[in-house]
Amino acid sequence: MEPDISVLGASGKSGRRVAAALRADGHPVRPASRTAAVRFDWQDDDTWPAVTEGAGALYLVAPEDPTPLPSFVELVAEAGVTRVVLLSGRGVETWNGRFGHAMAAAEDVVRGSDLSWTVLRANNFMQNFTEDVWHEPMLTGRLALPTGGVAEPFIDLDDLAAVAAHVLTTDRYAGRVLDLSGPAALTYDDAVAIIAAAAGRPIRFEEISPSAYADELRAGGLPEEWVAELGGMFDVTREGAVADPTTAVEDVLGRPPRAFADWVAHVAPTGVWAS
Ligand SMILES: NC(=O)c1ccc[n+]([C@@H]2O[C@H](COP(=O)([O-])OP(=O)(O)OC[C@H]3O[C@@H](n4cnc5c(N)ncnc54)[C@H](OP(=O)(O)O)[C@@H]3O)[C@@H](O)[C@H]2O)c1
Repeated sequence: MEPDISVLGASGKSGRRVAAALRADGHPVRPASRTAAVRFDWQDDDTWPAVTEGAGALYLVAPEDPTPLPSFVELVAEAGVTRVVLLSGRGVETWNGRFGHAMAAAEDVVRGSDLSWTVLRANNFMQNFTEDVWHEPMLTGRLALPTGGVAEPFIDLDDLAAVAAHVLTTDRYAGRVLDLSGPAALTYDDAVAIIAAAAGRPIRFEEISPSAYADELRAGGLPEEWVAELGGMFDVTREGAVADPTTAVEDVLGRPPRAFADWVAHVAPTGVWAS
C-alpha cells in the first residue's frame, strides 16, 4: 500500500490545492495544520509525529518562526520520510535578508539536511488578487505599489499544486530547485486592467514611491515587521531578477502554465471582485 503524503499548511492557499491534486491522482493524503483534519502545530512538537510517522513524502510550507525547523527535519529523517517538497520564493539568493526570512531559513535547513528534498521557488501567486494581500484593494478600486514598472510572471496556484503533487510522487526531482512562474510577465498596471475589465468596475493601479508605500501600510495598521517585509519584496521586484518567465511548469507537467487573462476569466464569474 502506498504510504500517506503529509501536506502541511493544508488549510492554506497552496496546501489546500496540493492535497486536492494528490487526491485527484488517487494518492493517500494527510492534510495537516492547526485547523486541518490532522492537527499539526509548529509550536507543539507533540503534534509532529502525526505527520511524520508512516508518511512517505511531505509538502512543507515554511513556518513564520524557523526555530522549530531543525528538530522537525530531524524527526522527518528519523521517521524515514523519503521526499520533502518545500515551497519557497523566486530570487531567494538575491534577497540578502531584505525579505522572506522564513523561506530563506527553511531552505537552509532543508537543503542542509540528508533528506531527499526538492525546492519549489515560486513567483507571486495570481491568487494574491483573490485570497490574499491584493484582494481588498481590488474591492476598494485602487492598488498602489512601488513596482518600478517591473513586470511579474504571476503563477496560478493550481499549476504550482500540480507540480508539487507530481514532484511528491517521483524521485526524478530529488536535490533540485525548480523556479516556477506563469507563462508571461505582465506589469501590475496591466494585471489590474485585466481584472477591472473582467469585473466590469473601475479599478486603478497607481505607482507610488517605496516610502509612500510604507506610509500607506502603516496607516492601514500593518505591524512594522510586515511593512519591512512587503517593502523588501518590492525592493527585490524592482531589481528585475524574477521578472522573466521560466519553463519549469511545462518541463514538469508537459503543458504550459495558465495565463493571467485565462485565470481572470475563470475566477471573475465567481463574483470575487464584485464590490
Ligand atoms: N503569496 C505569494 O505570492 C507567495 C509566493 C511565493 C512563496 N510564498 C510563500 O508561501 C508560503 C505560504 O503558503 P500559502 O500561501 O500556501 O499559505 P497560507 O495561505 O499563507 O496559509 C498558511 C498555512 O500555514 C498554516 N499555519 C500557520 N501557522 C501554523 C502553525 N503554527 N502550525 C502549523 N500550521 C500553521 C495555516 O493553517 P492553520 O491556520 O490551520 O494552522 C495555513 O494552512 C509562505 O512561505 C510565503 O512566503 C508566497
